[in-house]
Parts: sequence; C-alpha cells; structure tokens
Amino acid sequence: MSEDPPLSILGVAGSLRQGSFNRALLRAAVDLAPDGVRIEIFDLAAVPLYNADLEAAGDPPGVAAFKQAIRAADGVLLATPEYNHGVPGVMKNAVDWASRPPRDAALGEKPVGVIGASPGMTGSARGQSQLRQAFEFTNSFCMPQPELLVFRAHEKFDDDGRLTDAATREHLARYLTAFAAWIRRFR
Ligand code: FNR
Repeated sequence: MSEDPPLSILGVAGSLRQGSFNRALLRAAVDLAPDGVRIEIFDLAAVPLYNADLEAAGDPPGVAAFKQAIRAADGVLLATPEYNHGVPGVMKNAVDWASRPPRDAALGEKPVGVIGASPGMTGSARGQSQLRQAFEFTNSFCMPQPELLVFRAHEKFDDDGRLTDAATREHLARYLTAFAAWIRRFR
C-alpha cells in the first residue's frame, strides 16, 4: 500500500462515440492506476457548445457538473483524439468552458496530463501538442513528460474496447505513476 494520501483524478475523453479509443484508454487507466489513485471518467456528452450568452445566464447543468468535477479532483487526465492535425472541437470546447471565469477557472493551477490514441502512426501527437497550448492560458500545471502516444490504436484494443497490447499497458501504468508524482508536487 502507498503511504501517500489518496489522489483523485478526473479522466476526460475528447470523443463522444461509444467505441472511442480515447475513452477506452481512460478505462484502461482506471484499471492500471497505482495504489492510492482513483480515476473517475467524466462524459462530455452533456456539455453544450460554448456560448457567452448561456454562460451569462448561469452555467448549463452539464458545464456546472464538469467544473465541479474538475475542482473536486486533484488532477485531470485528458485523452484526446486528433482531428485534422489538431484538437477535436469536443475537447477544446470543454476546456474553453472550464477556463472561465479567467481568474477563478476550474482549470487554473490544476495539474493536468495529456494522453491520446489514434489509428494513425502519430498517436494523436499533434492534437496533444495543440491541447497543451491551451494550458498556457489557463495557467494549468500540464505535465511535460512522459508522453503517451497510442499509435495504431485499432491494433491495441480488442473488439470490446479492452487495452490488450502489453507494451501499451506497461507504458500507461508508468505514465500514471509519473502523473501521480506530478500531482503530489502541487499539494
Ligand atoms: C480523424 N482522424 C485523424 N487521425 C489522425 O491521426 N490525425 C488526424 O489528423 C485525423 N483527422 C481526423 C479528422 C476527423 C474529422 C475524424 C472524424 C477523424 C482519425 C481519428 O484519429 C479516429 O477517428 C479516432 O478513432 C478518433 O478517436 P476516438 O473517437 O477513437 O477516441
């Protein structure tokens, strides 16, 4: 058993589809989390497109729940796909909501990890890079290393979305240990 105080991590996938590799990667993270680390997955389906008029009338329920879940967590683990060499709108939209209000944002000074999966050869590298840029503005503590780029994702998960590739499982477990240590630096 770990002697460190327990940590809670909020996992967020930037894809809404049932068979998402990125969501499946987070499910694997739940299983592979080190002792004393609990990961809960937040579904972005109820987060509408950002609209300052909606915001001015009070955060919609899905947004309020998202912000609350971020605030309650010790760290946030974002699993992002890559669309057209960038961050998919679903993920960027969620980050945009959670970046507000700017001086009291849920993401402000929050430890953040970025991982991702793609069937292509780059494993969402460009999507991840672009997502990291947003955390400069939100003043989040985005872990620079290690990285986790799950390339050729269709070969690494079975038909039920289980991460079956041994090397990727090992890499993910090491990533989670590093992320837990990163979060503890800010406690
Ligand atoms: C893609 N995909 C993709 N993949 C990639 O590696 N680089 C890219 O630039 C793109 N661009 C892209 C654009 C659009 C509009 C779609 C729909 C898809 C493929 C993408 O990686 C693949 O659909 C993943 O399976 C998406 O992640 P989830 O949904 O499996 O988590």
